[in-house]
Amino acid sequence: MSGDTGEISVERHQAWFGQMLVDPGCWFGVAEDGSGQPFGVVRFNVDSDDPSTAEVSISLAREYRGRGLGGRCLQSAIHQYRGENRAVRQIRARVHKDNLPSQRMFESAGFVYSEGPEGGFLVGWLRVPKVFSEGSGP
Ligand SMILES: CC(C)(COP(=O)(O)OP(=O)(O)OC[C@H]1O[C@@H](n2cnc3c(N)ncnc32)[C@H](O)[C@@H]1OP(=O)(O)O)[C@@H](O)C(=O)NCCC(=O)NCCS
Repeated sequence: MSGDTGEISVERHQAWFGQMLVDPGCWFGVAEDGSGQPFGVVRFNVDSDDPSTAEVSISLAREYRGRGLGGRCLQSAIHQYRGENRAVRQIRARVHKDNLPSQRMFESAGFVYSEGPEGGFLVGWLRVPKVFSEGSGP
């Protein structure tokens, strides 16, 4: 998720995306429906100051929201990411305090909330990594 609530130009978005694609600490997963139509993206970024922590961001195409798909994509992506990035021990998410579907989705995945340092945001830490302990634990 972008913390920027203002309008983002195509040029600015492309520049940001280009940086993400070459960043070795960035991982992308794309969700597709049964006909191969992409409908969602899950992204992890390793914290440059703490390689044991990554921040997750998820977004589904508008017409796919509200059907319970977000949680399934999130859990599947965490499982796959964790399998490929064993040094990451903790995953956090920045969720706007008004974004109730996102809060519910992260809570269902085992995230717990703590007040974040940034105004208007809560920071969730996956402290009890139940999805990690299912055969992929340390
Ligand atoms: C956040 C997002 C990924 C959630 O995916 P989704 O498939 O739409 O979510 P779900 O349908 O599974 O709903 C998640 C939960 O929110 C609840 N919910 C849905 N709409 C709600 C609303 N308007 N108010 C309160 N709760 C709501 C659902 O009941 C569900 O809770 P439950 O699991 O306890 O039943 C998706 O909405 C999205 O892409 N949003 C835009 C990007 C974004 O905000 N990303 C998150 C920040 S990284």
